[in-house]
Amino acid sequence: MTTVFYGSRAWGLFHRASSSSSSRVWTHPPFVGLSPGRGLSRPPPCRAAHSGVRRLPFATLSQQDRDFFQTLLPGRALTDPEVLEASNVDWLKSVRGSSELLLRPRTTEEVSQILRYCNARGLAVTPQGGNTGLVGGSVPVFDEIILSTALLNQVLSFDVVSGILTCQAGCVLEALSSFVGEQDFVMPLDLGAKGSCHIGGNVATNAGGLRLLRYGPLRGTVLGLEVVLADGTVLDSQAPLRKDNTGYDLKQLFIGSEGTLGVVTAVSILCPRKPSAVNLAFLGCATFPQVLETFQLCRGMLGEVLSAFEFLDSACMKLVQDHLKLTNPIKESPFYILIETSGSSAAHDEEKLHRFLQEVMTSSLVADGTVATEDSKIKALWALRERITEALTHDGCVYKYDLSLPVQHIYQLVEDMQEHLGTRAKNVVGYGHLGDGNLHLNITSPSHDPALLAAIEPYVYEWTARHHGSISAEHGLGLKKRNYVHFSKPAPALRLMWQIKSLLDPRGILNPYKTLPDRASTD
Ligand code: FAD
Ligand code: LAC
Ligand code: ZN
Repeated sequence: MTTVFYGSRAWGLFHRASSSSSSRVWTHPPFVGLSPGRGLSRPPPCRAAHSGVRRLPFATLSQQDRDFFQTLLPGRALTDPEVLEASNVDWLKSVRGSSELLLRPRTTEEVSQILRYCNARGLAVTPQGGNTGLVGGSVPVFDEIILSTALLNQVLSFDVVSGILTCQAGCVLEALSSFVGEQDFVMPLDLGAKGSCHIGGNVATNAGGLRLLRYGPLRGTVLGLEVVLADGTVLDSQAPLRKDNTGYDLKQLFIGSEGTLGVVTAVSILCPRKPSAVNLAFLGCATFPQVLETFQLCRGMLGEVLSAFEFLDSACMKLVQDHLKLTNPIKESPFYILIETSGSSAAHDEEKLHRFLQEVMTSSLVADGTVATEDSKIKALWALRERITEALTHDGCVYKYDLSLPVQHIYQLVEDMQEHLGTRAKNVVGYGHLGDGNLHLNITSPSHDPALLAAIEPYVYEWTARHHGSISAEHGLGLKKRNYVHFSKPAPALRLMWQIKSLLDPRGILNPYKTLPDRASTD
């Protein structure tokens, strides 16, 4: 054990190379040579996983349409191709659309008017929040109009007694965190993209993130939504109430629907009190079974103060070191874990953590580790985990998989994939929300490699189905995964999903080509 644990908090051994991640606004990674054009094109070196998408018979934008939107949204109906560039391409630079119109409404009424008009005209629309989605869902596939929530960015109310926040959908998650933080509350979700993602996008993707272990999914913390349906109807189920059993819980339909059933315009969400004591332990383990044993022990010994249990393998550590110049604060290990505690009594939590750390050290479950209690040091440690996604974009073409698996099998998939691909892949790495049984499996290659992709898919989905997992734990299906959903959902469920889509969006104008599998495959 080179790093002294708890008590001395040996920060002398920790050389922080990164600045805090918390105020970072995500920018797109460098974009490599794309030729503009109509339809979905696949930029080298990375290309979308799917081909053969055919444009549905939606109307095309006319001068009359442009005039309508210019009048409705003066100065906020944008047509300059350079301005549209960032909204036509996803964060990963893997999917490109060719929209010619970006709308930036400020009010629910404006959203309603936009959709009413588009529905009547048969114009397709892609709702877009912070455009940080990882499954190609947030950008148009062809010439869909982009409806951005960027200017729907007002906090509407915050109740300091109940902790219920009501805000417009375009509020940036990090801004909301700061806002409620000033009043001693926290947002019930946190993710690496917080500097750019919008709360509406979080709801639309049912984002998980780093706090799910403690506060549960958005399906529990979102209390109400305001949604505009495809025909412009405003469905107001904003409920600043913790309990409401009046009929079907319609908001659940829109949580995780990825913009295919309605546009979320406002959100009521339950914010927990800010924990007054937070500790973060960063530990190294020699084997994955030791990681699992540490998790089991940790759940038992830390109990209610455990707020996150995340892991990364040594290949991820190398990526953040090589590409982002972050520093590993402990001895090199095959696996690293981050254990966060959050509670209301520093002395109580520290004592619990201390006993747990002594136990994992004496039983040799953990090879090395360090603990942070100071905010800046906690952030620096979190950066090692949160910035893996960013580091991967510097490693070449990335094939990304976001699997839910029984926790005991979670790393076996990485090992099997490594063996299956052999030297064909540049890197096969695993990290994720171990406490939630959520693996992020990422495979990199110097450039887009169709043979490599053919070796990965459907192998990865078959493996996941065989182990009773889900092919999307938290990122959604978007464009890239939708035609693999049958590995996780039976045909009757998919038919019902299409029926719901047809009921709420009969003309299919909302985010076409996303989430639902090709219709023919479900008939
Ligand atoms: P966008 O990317 O703009 O859109 C995502 C989808 O939602 C699209 O289908 C879009 O059409 C739809 N949509 C957006 N806004 C609305 C709206 N108002 N109404 C209806 N539909 C809408 N995800 C996780 O779950 N956990 C993580 O830990 C996590 N970490 C990430 C880290 C990084 C570095 C990055 C780049 C991404 C990460 N993601 C994570 C993925 C992504 O950030 C989330 O999916 C996020 O919730 C997307 O929010 P957004 O505002 O960027 O939505
Ligand atoms: C994360 C994203 C990729 O957990 O979901 O970092
Ligand atoms: Zn994640």
